[in-house]
Amino acid sequence: MSLNEVEKQKEYIKKVYEINKEKELKYYILTMGCSLNENDSEKISGILEEMNYKKTDNIKEANFIVFNTCCIRENAEDRLFGKLGEVKKIKKENNSIIAIGGCMMQEKHIIEKLKKSYPFVDIIFGTHTLHKLPEDVYIKLKTSKKIEDILDIDGKIYEDLPIKRADKIKAQVTIMYGCNNFCSYCIVPYVRGRERSRKPEDILKEVEQLSLQGYKEIMLLGQNVNSYHGRENYGFAELLRDINKIEGIERIRFISPHPKDFTQDVIQAIADCEKVCKCIHLPLQSGSSKILKSMNRKYTKEQFLNLANEIKEKIPNVALTTDIIVGFPGETEEDFEDTLDVVKKVGFEQVFMFIFSRRVGTVADEMNNQISEEIKHIRFNKLKELVESQIEKNNEKYVGTIQKVLVDGTSKNNEHTLSGRTDSNKVVVIEADKKYIGNIVNVKITEDCMWYLKGEI
Ligand code: SAH
Ligand code: SF4
Ligand code: F3S
Repeated sequence: MSLNEVEKQKEYIKKVYEINKEKELKYYILTMGCSLNENDSEKISGILEEMNYKKTDNIKEANFIVFNTCCIRENAEDRLFGKLGEVKKIKKENNSIIAIGGCMMQEKHIIEKLKKSYPFVDIIFGTHTLHKLPEDVYIKLKTSKKIEDILDIDGKIYEDLPIKRADKIKAQVTIMYGCNNFCSYCIVPYVRGRERSRKPEDILKEVEQLSLQGYKEIMLLGQNVNSYHGRENYGFAELLRDINKIEGIERIRFISPHPKDFTQDVIQAIADCEKVCKCIHLPLQSGSSKILKSMNRKYTKEQFLNLANEIKEKIPNVALTTDIIVGFPGETEEDFEDTLDVVKKVGFEQVFMFIFSRRVGTVADEMNNQISEEIKHIRFNKLKELVESQIEKNNEKYVGTIQKVLVDGTSKNNEHTLSGRTDSNKVVVIEADKKYIGNIVNVKITEDCMWYLKGEI
């Protein structure tokens, strides 16, 4: 049934193309969220390009403007509404179509606010209706009606939508949608629905095609990749082993696994598969067992530390990275010290730090022991200091070593230097010929800077 739906949408793409084909049209897309959101943007871009819109980075010249939203933290909302102020003028000048999609559109109070205060928005679509964008655009062009296309129930999985990838060397592949975990602070299960895994054969087909197109690195995406369930007796470990066999692909990464589902077979598969990077993102969130319980994370401080040790034992030289939230309701100084303690003990390669943000509809938003902004910031800065000192020390150990670096392009700030990443995902800047782009090369690390390393081939 879902195949027919995709065919139907492809017909709409053709119809819109017929309307647009004589015109010079441009689209602008702003991706506001995580890698899953980025991968969705690649699908939105694929659809628009087949409708004869060409990509522009200059919003002022765009005929079609898309905001692909996120709502994981409060600042995401401020950002969207700020942008919408800017867009109103552009719409007046270009008569552009304004479309907003993504996670935030699954929140009812946001839709109400949009309809009330931003009536110039043309198309609102959600995470479960992305595949219907062609139909939405067609109806908009034909009728000038405002379109609100949101589904409350979980979307199905639609294969074979057009896609325009942002990169030519590294590709993102979503393996599952949704989340069942309901961590008490998190909005994702409400806006992305329940877990749905893609079929193994669909994922393997996609990766094989990527390999034929010359892609070297695959990033597997899901909110909780290690609860991937392709079919009976086929989980994340089996998927890693099968992707590892695909010729041409040289590196496999994945985000995010959940510590509670990190089973032996997954650890063993990572250890066995030579293409799977020995770099694991293991979100801690808090080091206090009391806070972890209240977060509904389903592991304790000790279980996390044991898991980290076990991973280190079975996967030599593994690099661990993590996410941490400070200022969760009820977090005492002692709880926070537990977090610092785990950071010290595990020695993470990188820590993504967040200040707890209240999300409407979540359990933690209703808790009556919220922490003051002042204390949240003091703790955030304290954690940041510890993390930075650890990263500095950790970077020193790279100097003098030879690292395998996948060169992915010229560096951001200097066209004459190249940049790439180590197996452990550290950025390395090298002075070398552009011919190395797209290859894995041996690089001797010569210098360590805070956020990157320098090296030579
Ligand atoms: N599924 C992933 C998380 C995706 S969201 C996992 O379980 O690790 C990415 C990160 O955002 C989370 O790991 C968490 O650290 C942070 N985050 C989520 N909700 C938040 C909130 N309400 N306030 C602050 N940070 C939050
Ligand atoms: Fe959110 Fe928890 Fe699901 Fe991650 S596992 S997306 S933090 S509910
Ligand atoms: Fe944001 Fe949705 Fe990702 S809320 S973090 S874009 S899943």
